[in-house]
Amino acid sequence: MEQLTKISEIRKALEKVRRQGKTIGFVPTMGYLHEGHLSLVRESLKKADYTVVSIFVNPTQFGPEEDFNRYPRDLSRDAQILEKEGVDILFVPQTIEMYPEGYKTFVEVKDLQNLLCGKSRPGHFRGVCTVVLKLFNIIQPNMCFFGQKDAQQAVIMKKMVHDLNLDISVEVLPIIREHDGIAMSSRNSYLNPEQRKAALILYKSLKEAEEMIVEGERSAGNIIERMCKIINSEPKARIDYVEIVDLKNLNPVIAIKNEVLIALAVFIGSVRLIDNIIVNIKE
Ligand code: PAF
Repeated sequence: MEQLTKISEIRKALEKVRRQGKTIGFVPTMGYLHEGHLSLVRESLKKADYTVVSIFVNPTQFGPEEDFNRYPRDLSRDAQILEKEGVDILFVPQTIEMYPEGYKTFVEVKDLQNLLCGKSRPGHFRGVCTVVLKLFNIIQPNMCFFGQKDAQQAVIMKKMVHDLNLDISVEVLPIIREHDGIAMSSRNSYLNPEQRKAALILYKSLKEAEEMIVEGERSAGNIIERMCKIINSEPKARIDYVEIVDLKNLNPVIAIKNEVLIALAVFIGSVRLIDNIIVNIKE
């Protein structure tokens, strides 16, 4: 595996790969890798001839009060893991090259960026879109891979790729969970053992919602109310949002039909965690 930091270096390396007629798969990450990331990497290794993974903790997607500085980082461990997986290039750009002094250009996906997580993280998706488009332009992949854990991000990425006519297929892969149900996330490393236990309430409430739907409940309001009650029974939890939305446009639904996304963000102490499930009813 080659580890590259300069944009000119990776462009040169990939030019050669493209000339050989090989397809390029790309997995953008912020590092501190877990099995969720590795499921994306493995899919790329399976589907593309050549796999590029980026690690870049992107400052523009963090708000001023957010965890940019303390976001977990362990590049040497990540590099070892990716090398073992058989990744071809690990791209670790420097902030100064991604956002040189005087940087002015940003990408937005209107409306979608303001829903769900966008309400409490203004500017977050603008930062994500900007960095991902920049990485797409640098790497020019044929396909890219995102996790369903960041459901809104996945929807926004697809929309950006579609709207800007990018010739890149976007694959979204299922959430990978720990044995007890908690969704894998680099931010789980912030949790102390008690908070880790409390964090189970997220998945518990999602499973309850799923069960209610299976048993015939169709009122989104009733389901959300029940979920909030469950989450609020955990003293360490504070709800940011619990919503049931249309999977395509992320707008709230009133009655459950077809495919819906049940998504939530909950603070456990000061750690903000997100999780979701897709429920598909065929009636
Ligand atoms: O999902 C993430 O880790 C980030 O939002 C991404 C896509 C790598 C952009 O910085």
